Amino acid sequence: MSERYERMRAAVRALYDRNRQQGTAPWCGLDYDFVCPSTGTYPFQWFWDSCFHTVALAHFDLARARSEIRSLLANAQPDGFVAHVTFWQRERYEEMLATYAIAYRTPYLSDCIQPPVLAEAVAAAARGEGGDAFLSEVLARTVAYFNWLDRMRDPDGDGLIATLQPDESGLDHTPKYDAYLGLPRVEHAEFTRAWERVAGPYAQVGRDHERMFALDRFVCADVLVNTIYAENQRVLADLLDRAGDAQGAVRFRSRAHQTERALVEKCYDAEAGLFYDMVGRDGRGRLRVNTVSSLMPLLLDIPPDIAAALVRQVEDPHKYGAPFPVPSTALDAPTYLKPTADSKLVWRGPTWINTNWYLARGLRRHGREDLARTVEDRSAALVERSGFREYYDPFSGEGFGADGFSWSALALDLLAEREGVR
Ligand code: GLC
Repeated sequence: MSERYERMRAAVRALYDRNRQQGTAPWCGLDYDFVCPSTGTYPFQWFWDSCFHTVALAHFDLARARSEIRSLLANAQPDGFVAHVTFWQRERYEEMLATYAIAYRTPYLSDCIQPPVLAEAVAAAARGEGGDAFLSEVLARTVAYFNWLDRMRDPDGDGLIATLQPDESGLDHTPKYDAYLGLPRVEHAEFTRAWERVAGPYAQVGRDHERMFALDRFVCADVLVNTIYAENQRVLADLLDRAGDAQGAVRFRSRAHQTERALVEKCYDAEAGLFYDMVGRDGRGRLRVNTVSSLMPLLLDIPPDIAAALVRQVEDPHKYGAPFPVPSTALDAPTYLKPTADSKLVWRGPTWINTNWYLARGLRRHGREDLARTVEDRSAALVERSGFREYYDPFSGEGFGADGFSWSALALDLLAEREGVR
């Protein structure tokens, strides 16, 4: 095993000991044991963060990787829904909660989704000894979650699921929403107001799905979310095969294909060589802003000419080819925002490790081993230089946002890929 990998693994282990949250929650009488995104600003359990943490944990502690998923699914609802935040230890942080804009299903569960990284996380936790038993413990709830997404978020059955508020993509202040949200100025307070313009009317209709769609305030077939949806339906199909449910596997494989096809047919803009989110209930709008989300389908089985167009963007020094790739918006986009210590706006320029985790894999799948290795190496270098930060300056590599940020530990999985450690 390489020294570089070993060093990173020790650093991740220490971080995950610091960010570990363990206890019993009086409100539901259940035990929890998970890694929070960051003790300073995000002490609760976030959905996609937790999935990424599981991937990192699987490198050194399978028992904790499994606890992470057990905690995530512990409050899965009878209809299949899993909240994007579980406020396990809410009482300890009431003051912090006052600073969040969150829609609640109960005082302890949010009423939103996040990108469905769940099947990939389950697959990571189900590696090794005891993996089959773990899989049979969580598979039904995992399937129920994907069926919920299909039933509730894809009412027209085209294979693409809709996000109904900006924070559901996990890309909170991405510039791709600016015009759609009617932002008068790029300021944090304006994002909060825009969020309220969407979530307020939802509250009035009791957050009933049909009525939220009908309001047509924010209906977005998000490219990042649907890329992850396609990939995870495919991974879920593999898990179903492993568990002996061949029929279930066929169903999810065909759903994965459908999502992939719909992305290419509906979201690809051949002139720009980019994928754009489709918005509005009638699906007529497009969010024509060049962000990292536009590159995400590289992960999928897309036609070679389309993959080549995306790769050109990744390589172009005026677009995404920064010294520390891959920035969250194109460098030449007028909305590109250099990170600063006091900015609270996220996803408007800096490089994030979780999108790199997907893009490196996509580059390798499309034959660009060289670029995949660069993204893997540079991602690890960011963590080595600047520690586990929420995001990084794509030019200097300086870290910003939350400190001791847990999903940046995906750098460990990126190093493992690069160095062939498994
Ligand atoms: C921010 C990010 C979101 C993440 C959360 C916790 O809101 O935009 O994607 O899940 O922080 O880390």
